Amino acid sequence: MLDYSSSSKAGNLFQEWGFRDNPFSHNELPSNSDGDRLLIGRDEEVSLLLRRLSTPPSVVTLEATAGMGKSSLVNVALYRYMRLRAKQGIGPLLIPCKKKFELYPGTITEDWIRKFYVSLAETLVAERAFLEELGYKIAEMSRIDDFLNVIEKVGRTVAVSAAAYGRTPSPTSNLYSESGFYRDVEAALKTIFPEQKSGGVVCIIENLELVEFFEDARRKLEQLRDEVLNMRGVRWVISGAIGLLYGLVATPRLGRVLDPPLRLKPIPLKEAADVLRSREEVFKEENDFYLPLTPDMMPELFELMHGNIGAVLRSVEDYCKWIDSNGHHPKEPRRKYAYFKKWLMEKSLVHLDEIQRWIDNPGTWKVFEEISLSGGRGYMKLLTGKKGRGAVEDAYSYTDPNESHRRMRIVNELKNLDLVKQVYERGDSKGALLEVTPKGWLVMYAKRSVVPSKQPSNAPPDKS
Ligand SMILES: Nc1ncnc2c1ncn2[C@@H]1O[C@H](COP(=O)(O)OP(=O)(O)OP(=O)(O)O)[C@@H](O)[C@H]1O
Ligand SMILES: [Mg+2]
Repeated sequence: MLDYSSSSKAGNLFQEWGFRDNPFSHNELPSNSDGDRLLIGRDEEVSLLLRRLSTPPSVVTLEATAGMGKSSLVNVALYRYMRLRAKQGIGPLLIPCKKKFELYPGTITEDWIRKFYVSLAETLVAERAFLEELGYKIAEMSRIDDFLNVIEKVGRTVAVSAAAYGRTPSPTSNLYSESGFYRDVEAALKTIFPEQKSGGVVCIIENLELVEFFEDARRKLEQLRDEVLNMRGVRWVISGAIGLLYGLVATPRLGRVLDPPLRLKPIPLKEAADVLRSREEVFKEENDFYLPLTPDMMPELFELMHGNIGAVLRSVEDYCKWIDSNGHHPKEPRRKYAYFKKWLMEKSLVHLDEIQRWIDNPGTWKVFEEISLSGGRGYMKLLTGKKGRGAVEDAYSYTDPNESHRRMRIVNELKNLDLVKQVYERGDSKGALLEVTPKGWLVMYAKRSVVPSKQPSNAPPDKS
């Protein structure tokens, strides 16, 4: 039996509590049997995603708030698919790419394209034995493998000569041609995936909102459209913030390439408890593990964080650390719940207190409350036109500097206090998409729950 109260502060908290690792890690769920057991409440989305991936040629798109589980969904869906396919021996072949991709402001560089080809090559080499087992003989594989070994030794940005690709590899001379390498990768893909319906290496562009501007995201995807997004033997998934992919699919040039987005909703509240149960099961080292919370406390946290699983897990981890650092170890469920509420109140009040000291502009509160009350998300036009001037209010051709300045100040204040996140900006009448952060939800919780002047008491919670 573990003696929780006398545990050494130097060791790993969760190991001392009977787990092999931190059950609340913020990492996306892996594409393996643990990920399979930990993915809760997404059966329908897994089926839909796999159905779309198996129906070429459109690019599959996925949108949700950060932390809602986009990456985990894709990882686990592919794992489940590979297992099912191995058992049944039918269906297109979908091989997850070893690396994931992101796009940033600025143009798409040759370096980005090179990394894409290298990642495809690394995936094929890693799956070589598996592919051979399936009966694929890939003539180009040895050259591809040699090339990867060379760039591993000399670095990825090595300049390569077109004439020399395929000769004896040497890390010190530029013996490889990039175009020869690209051709070999494409030929290998065509051997494995002779038709579109044969499947492909599944590549993911994540967090498309990192591009910051809608128009920039549109230009980049158009740039990638013909050569990269339509490449034989590659199936694409693009994921990003809510509204972004929806807007891109509505543009004529991208609408023909991108599937309408699959939007991830919060998992059903009735499955929230299973998020904790499954983590206990997967991470416990022994049956005698300890946690200061019970599964039936999870729905309340899910509601508070508006279904953001990442934010829920971070809160649980935070609460566990708070329990540990305060030396409490509640054992009965009612005591656990009382401590959990005490932690929640303390934490949210600290944030509220800080925010109240910083915000002196009532307009800032008003905007924050409006966004929170409308589900935590809303567009705000930053550059505004004056009414009555011109037929259409055009944000960029005519602006009212005072009003625009006022709005910018509000948004900057909210962003600096980490109450909202500016997800991306549109150049049309919509403006910037703002989303309430997990800290913002805690502040709203504190505002709703208490008379703001009342500070948390230091007395222990209800001992019943
Ligand atoms: N369906 C699920 N069941 C249980 N845990 C989940 C589920 N989906 C995601 N998680 C957990 O939630 C956290 C966030 O998931 P993930 O990183 O996949 O979200 P995301 O939407 O890709 O976020 P980001 O936009 O920040 O990349 C991770 O810790 C992951 O383990
Ligand atoms: Mg992700």
